[in-house]
Amino acid sequence: MRFLKRSLLAVLLFSISFSSLAWWGVNGHRVTGEIADYYLTKKARKAIKEILGEESVAMSSNWADFIKSDSTYDYLYSWHYINSKGGMSHDEFTSKLLADTGTNLYTKTNFVISELKNNKQLSQEKKVLYLRLLIHFIGDLHQPLHAGGRPEDRGGNGIKVLWFNEPTNLHSIWDDRLVEFQKLSYTEFAKNINHVSRQQRLEWQNQPMTEWFYESYQVSQGLYADITQPDQKLGYDYNFKYAETLNKQLLKGGIRLAAVLNEIFG
Ligand code: ADE
Ligand code: ZN
Ligand code: ZN
Repeated sequence: MRFLKRSLLAVLLFSISFSSLAWWGVNGHRVTGEIADYYLTKKARKAIKEILGEESVAMSSNWADFIKSDSTYDYLYSWHYINSKGGMSHDEFTSKLLADTGTNLYTKTNFVISELKNNKQLSQEKKVLYLRLLIHFIGDLHQPLHAGGRPEDRGGNGIKVLWFNEPTNLHSIWDDRLVEFQKLSYTEFAKNINHVSRQQRLEWQNQPMTEWFYESYQVSQGLYADITQPDQKLGYDYNFKYAETLNKQLLKGGIRLAAVLNEIFG
């Protein structure tokens, strides 16, 4: 009996520590990678293949999460998100973002872009590292709670909710639960949402990255406003309200990732 209790406790602790380390889940990232691949120029696709080999853009998108089990990479933890206070205007948010010199998703995304684009001395090993990170980070920044999360609740990780009566937190709903609820493989998902006019695509791609963050921030403001009580129940109606937002964020993530990769390698 004692053994059973201990085992149960171990499983419980293990799953809690795992759930608080979650990010746009495995498939969310793959969807953005798969969509990005579709819009790559020939030249960019070839240059990327020289770096990643047989690893597709979709599959390389998960590497930055998978390495979290290796403490060598602990320094990358804070590269996946940026937190800020709620209720900021467009100009306030943007100027704060531009002035921030800390270690966060915005500064580090720009760092890896600049290294891949400008550093001619970059080793093959660093090219692989930075490219895998970049593919992952453009996805992360479209997860509203990675770009618009608040420090006091660690981007919604501290906001307990019930997802179809199962205890979880708001961050996790947006990392994986909503994506999983659609019950699509990443290729089915990408195929189903990858519909956009050329004009719309160019518009999304040509906005500065600060706007990409601001959009995510705006979405996150609404997500925070929705939660009005502890252990709030989320289910079918939440999915109905947000499925379109989810699809749009994933689509924008893929389309903009292609723009960044084409700009670097095209
Ligand atoms: N830890 C602290 N803030 C976070 C956020 N916004 N997203 C993911 N992990 C976090
Ligand atoms: Zn996350
Ligand atoms: Zn991440």
